[in-house]
This record gives sequence, C-alpha cells and structure tokens, in this order.
Amino acid sequence: MIIAVDGPAASGKGTLASGLARHYGLPHLDTGLLYRAVGRAVSDWEDQPGFEDAAIAAARALDASHLADVTELTSARSGVLASKVAVIGPVRAALFDYQRNFATQPGGAVLDGRDIGTNICPDADVKLFIQADSKARMERRARQLESRGLEVDRYALYHQIEERDARDMANPNGGFYKADDAHLLDTTLLDIEAALRAAIAIVETTMAHKAKL
Ligand code: C5P
Repeated sequence: MIIAVDGPAASGKGTLASGLARHYGLPHLDTGLLYRAVGRAVSDWEDQPGFEDAAIAAARALDASHLADVTELTSARSGVLASKVAVIGPVRAALFDYQRNFATQPGGAVLDGRDIGTNICPDADVKLFIQADSKARMERRARQLESRGLEVDRYALYHQIEERDARDMANPNGGFYKADDAHLLDTTLLDIEAALRAAIAIVETTMAHKAKL
C-alpha cells in the first residue's frame, strides 16, 4: 500500500505520515528532507549567480548519507533554503527517482511532501492533503524548535512560513495542490492523537471502498 501525505509547511503532515507508517508497519520518507539537504549543500551560494547549477549538482549527488543530520536539516533556515532549490526544475527531476524508488519498494511506503499525490505517486492507494491555519502551523513549529532548546522569534517564524508557502504555491515546477482524489484533513483544532485517528479512518475507509470495486 502506498500512502501519499501532502500539505503546506508545518501542517503536521510529517507527524501524521510517521504515525501512519508505524501503524501499518510501512517505511516512511519525509521528502522535504531531500530538498532541505540540497538547500544546505548550497547555502554558501544563496542568491548568487552559481546557485542553480550548484543546486542541480548537489541534487544529482544526493544519497541517504546526506539525510542523517535531521536536527540541522529541520531548522527554519534549511526550510527556506529548501524552498529556494525546490523551484529549480532539474533539481526536482534529479530527486524524482529516489522518491519513486522508495514508494514502489515491495510492500509499499508512506511518503510526505508537497507533490506526492500529484507528481511522485499519482497512483497512490490513499492520498491525504493536510491543512491547518497559518497561526496554528507557526505555533506547532515554534514548540517543535523550542523542544530542541532553540530560541524562537514567533513573528519571524510566521513570516518565514508565509514566505515559504507563497514560494511553494507559485512554484512553476511543483504540483503543490490537492490532488483531485486526495482526502482533505484539517488539523487546526486536532491534537496529534485525534489527527492520527482521523487519518487512519480515512485510510481504512478508502481501502475498504477499493476492495469492493
Ligand atoms: O516539508 P518541508 O517543510 O520539510 O519541505 C521543505 C521545502 O521543500 C518546502 O517548502 C518545499 O519548497 C520543498 N519540498 C518540495 N517538494 C516536496 C517536499 C518539499 O518542493 N515533495
């Protein structure tokens, strides 16, 4: 079974995807980490002429060893860098096979990101699109960073998330919208447990419905 989980920054999609993976005993790939790793690799080139070429080369050289430093990769700064490399078409193309191979491994997988249901796995068995309002998303991300002992400027974080949303939505090479057959799950008023229960209910209902066809 392939489960695609998409949604904007800090919507809770990563937590839900890893909860679904645990529940169904499936491997999980946070595809945002791939873009974050590429962004980190070219941070010295940010806003300079060689940025695109460096990002394309970094994406082509990417392997699992670049995804190990999760603390560094999940910083707010890495998120901004990720969204800057994610608009480059050849970067997305270079990362496609890694994601597709992960998704099609025997037994299936759970992947979360922005374009899983639209570009990477248009054939996924279940697609979820996770939404939450911007303030709730900022507060969640702030608490996540604070739990790691980091100091958070909430005002700056809110604007960073909005800036990233805007860049992602305008990405000419993305597919950052809800797939027609994706189920919308708004987690603004849900805690993690309630959101996971709702996501599992969607997976169960969808699979039961497909089994009847
Ligand atoms: O999901 P996360 O917030 O870690 O993603 C970081 C950035 O990577 C996003 O803002 C987006 O620009 C990019 N991304 C993407 N496609 C994906 C996953 C992430 O373009 N499948």
